[in-house]
Amino acid sequence: MQNMKTDELALDFLRVAEAAAIESARTMGQGDRKHSDHVAVEAMREVMDTVPMRGRIVIGEGERDEAPMLYIGEEIGGKEYSDEVRESFPEIDIAVDPLEGTNLCALGANNAIAVLAAAERGGLLNAPDIYMDKIVVGPSCKGSVDIEAPVEENLKAIAKSLSRDVDDLTVIVLDRPRHKKLVDEVRGAGARIRLIGDGDLSAGISAAVAGTNIHALMGIGGAPEGVLTAAAMKCLNGEIQARLIYDPERLSVDASKVPPMEEVMERLKSMGIDDPDKVYNTNDLAPGRRIIFAATGVTDGSLLKGVRFFGEGKRTNSVVMTTDTRNIRFVDTVHVEGGPDAVIRF
Ligand code: FBP
Repeated sequence: MQNMKTDELALDFLRVAEAAAIESARTMGQGDRKHSDHVAVEAMREVMDTVPMRGRIVIGEGERDEAPMLYIGEEIGGKEYSDEVRESFPEIDIAVDPLEGTNLCALGANNAIAVLAAAERGGLLNAPDIYMDKIVVGPSCKGSVDIEAPVEENLKAIAKSLSRDVDDLTVIVLDRPRHKKLVDEVRGAGARIRLIGDGDLSAGISAAVAGTNIHALMGIGGAPEGVLTAAAMKCLNGEIQARLIYDPERLSVDASKVPPMEEVMERLKSMGIDDPDKVYNTNDLAPGRRIIFAATGVTDGSLLKGVRFFGEGKRTNSVVMTTDTRNIRFVDTVHVEGGPDAVIRF
């Protein structure tokens, strides 16, 4: 941990996110979300293995028996080095989502991204792959919301912090039947809504960046995405509050469509989660002191452009952030493939 050179690793993780984004972007619009995800996973894994670290996946593609690559607990990185050299590398926990928004990529829709976050050992919660209720806001609204408060109260608090009226706010919500009540409440309070098909992680990041015209993310999405959002919030000075959702009734789905509640409870216990109703804050989800977050646009989005391919190479747009060096880098990379005469455009 003491030898964790955050800035150097951040650039390594940029390469990792770029590689996953490029490969999945090649499959954009082909209508095969599994294939898009698969190529992103393979590319991410391949480049991640070249990074000088003793990495361990804490949020990944699933348990060891259900995912061949980037599974939870997989040791990764430093593969080109001898064991002796590897011993000197920092021990790092890693959360990945090689393709966030598999459907978005398969359909060529906006806001698909390739993402990963890293921290010193124990710096990212090993969250179960179940649903999570979330509220995400930016720096100006930090400390003003409470996930247990009524929606209208939170909207009033956000509006006050941003010195505007509730009807000037835009809230992002995943377009799902389970959000009917939430949507009614947001509409009832007078705020505007952007309903999205997928991708609550990139939506959460947008909520924490001024100028995106997104003021909050609300509603139930994946818990792994919640941990990655928290890592981004630590870098952007935003806030996430969250709680696990295990009751099929809250999900508006037939109980037969989700694992039995007792099974979920057992799993939570085995992961050390004794209180399934705990409200998690940003630090609970991403307690690390040295966090690195990298994301590259796959398709065009509110914050990042998608991958562009041209005859002599490709161009990617990413954000790479660190907590200890407090850098937020928006990186525009031209990956030149042509010969010495290749033309680089501004
Ligand atoms: P994938 O990238 O795995 O397709 O997930 C996309 C996503 O929309 C997430 O952003 C979100 O947290 C989750 O799925 C919501 O789950 P569901 O689609 O089951 O409502």
